[in-house]
Amino acid sequence: MENNTSPFNKPKVELHVHLDGSIRPETILHFAKKRQIELPGDTTEELLRHVSYKEPLSLTEFLAKFNIYMPAIAGDREAIKRIAYEFVEMKAKEGVIYVETRYSPHFLANSKVDPIPWGQKEGDVTPDDVVDLVNQGLREGEKAFNVKARSILCCMRHMPNWSVEVVELCKKYKNDTVVAIDLAGDESLNCEAYPGHKKAYEEAVKCEIHRTVHAGEVGPPRIIKEAIEVLKAERIGHGYHVIEDPVLYKELLDKEMHFETCPWSSYLTGACNPDFTKHPIRQFKQDRANYSINTDDPLIFGSTLDVDYSIANKHMEFTEEEFKRVNINAAKSCFLPEKEKQELLHKLYEAYGMVITTGL
Ligand code: NI
Repeated sequence: MENNTSPFNKPKVELHVHLDGSIRPETILHFAKKRQIELPGDTTEELLRHVSYKEPLSLTEFLAKFNIYMPAIAGDREAIKRIAYEFVEMKAKEGVIYVETRYSPHFLANSKVDPIPWGQKEGDVTPDDVVDLVNQGLREGEKAFNVKARSILCCMRHMPNWSVEVVELCKKYKNDTVVAIDLAGDESLNCEAYPGHKKAYEEAVKCEIHRTVHAGEVGPPRIIKEAIEVLKAERIGHGYHVIEDPVLYKELLDKEMHFETCPWSSYLTGACNPDFTKHPIRQFKQDRANYSINTDDPLIFGSTLDVDYSIANKHMEFTEEEFKRVNINAAKSCFLPEKEKQELLHKLYEAYGMVITTGL
């Protein structure tokens, strides 16, 4: 949609981006060919015509996009490692110096996962193998492209039986790229009714695994409340609808709760008023809330981080100062260990010309 000139050519931090929504179309075509999996097109343009979209669709139509291309990637060791590596390359090109990417290990597996996703035949790639492969790809990407990359493992709202394994994987790979747990999917599936998620998040608290939850994206403020009170979320994925509950909103502003906002995504998913000048992010900006700007699923939304920054710049009156503030908030709210967080902040302060006299 928007042109590709960046309104903020300085180092950026991104906290909410799905690895399986950030795959290069060329890579999908490559592995589909190799594995003889049928796609709706055999050129990048044809594939993107089916996978990407530019006007709002329903959640069901959005989710159907994954059905098109995930069979080409899931269950293939080389493909899984490669998408993680190429993800870091993609972020380097966007000027990101620290990124937390998230994914469901189960959605990329084809063994020891019930049900086996995307209509795959049973194979030998377990959710544990997936995390190991993604870690390898991210680590190699970090070295090659000088971007720090960490990961967040997602529980899926409709698959509560996967959640305990997700937290076990977070524990096993803690700080070996994995820094947190997330809950994604259909917000109408209330987590109280699915004790698997609650149990997993309790274990996360116990083991000092960081926690974020997709909440208040399309769902009402009570989902955000539940994420914080029941699941002990430290950050909220999206959270736009918080502004409909002024008491909760005020409380979260006071607590400096971090909202991982995704402007272009929120337009295409119909999460918010399509008129960007009336978007909750404008309210966040006005109230100096703690939030970041993120892409969410750039493959499906046909975007890069510059698209989201351009929207903020053109339609939400973002200034250079606000972009700096947003990125500093993202760094302060990231899930790195304290020392590494301070190093990251130091890099941003330097790049933004915010002089610091004390060394680290
Ligand atoms: Ni998301």
